[in-house]
Amino acid sequence: MAMQWNDRISWGDISFHSFLIAVISGVVIAFKYNPFNAYKSLEIISGVVPWGEFFRRIHYFSAQFFLISLFLHKWEYMRKNIKYPASRWFWEVTIFFPLSFVVVFTGYILRGSKEGIFAMDVASSLLKTIPLIGSGFSRALFGNIDLSGLYTVFTNHALTFTLPFFFLFFWHVRLVLPDFKKLGYVFLWVTLLSLVINPGIGKPVDYPLDPVKGPWFFLGIQELVYEIYPWLGGVVFPLISLVVLSLYPRAKVIKIVFWIILAWYLILTVIAGFLRGPGWSLKF
Ligand code: HEM
Repeated sequence: MAMQWNDRISWGDISFHSFLIAVISGVVIAFKYNPFNAYKSLEIISGVVPWGEFFRRIHYFSAQFFLISLFLHKWEYMRKNIKYPASRWFWEVTIFFPLSFVVVFTGYILRGSKEGIFAMDVASSLLKTIPLIGSGFSRALFGNIDLSGLYTVFTNHALTFTLPFFFLFFWHVRLVLPDFKKLGYVFLWVTLLSLVINPGIGKPVDYPLDPVKGPWFFLGIQELVYEIYPWLGGVVFPLISLVVLSLYPRAKVIKIVFWIILAWYLILTVIAGFLRGPGWSLKF
């Protein structure tokens, strides 16, 4: 019998199973990935290694599914007004969202492409504007690229930020093992997308690119950083958004603010993604 979307598989299910697919495909590509010569190794994975390009695409799309379905999962909760212990909500959601963003973001950096390294530079400069802890935080996250390439980012991506999810999933819904029917269902969708869309690997670092744009979920921050003070757009605003995202949506006003922030970020993303040209000037 065909699986009925609403009754049988929730956005939370999709998020959990996408995550598992991302981990498995990540381990597969990691065998041929070289953080000391990232871009070159991805060219080899994509162009030479049998099934390399396929697993790259599976990794990419399962990660996007994971991130998007996580948001839709929260929306699902808010829409149905599902009761949830406020104390658990705070810890689980507060940790889940930033961690998901960071794991997907560090993955993008691992391409070692012009866009990836640029996104890392922007994030690193933004972190450094945080007094006292900013520089150390940036070093712990990105390491010293001149000495160790993307080794630190790779370790953080595959271990530091990925492992806690297993604890979080268990804590949140007592889930560690997949439901194979749901896994197959999500895998089917991820595969279909992988067959149709090529996410590419970006441009080499020395390629003359103007403007340089980061991953889609980072474009809004790039736009904000351009429009207002970098620390305000790149540090304060994301922090406020995270707090709002983490609040238990008991009061209606929290839901409204949640949607306003999301809509605003979407508009910024569209401006940065489609309307910005050379020198970050508007195309029209
Ligand atoms: C043990 C776990 C993991 C390993 C070993 C791993 C490994 C890798 C490697 C080697 C890359 C660079 C290759 C590429 O860009 O195609 C990468 C990229 C990436 N990873 Fe992972 N990863 C793991 C878990 C995850 C998880 C849990 C997520 C998110 C849910 C994720 C999201 C991404 C993303 C978004 C990229 C960028 C892909 C692209 O833009 O092409 N990874 N990962």
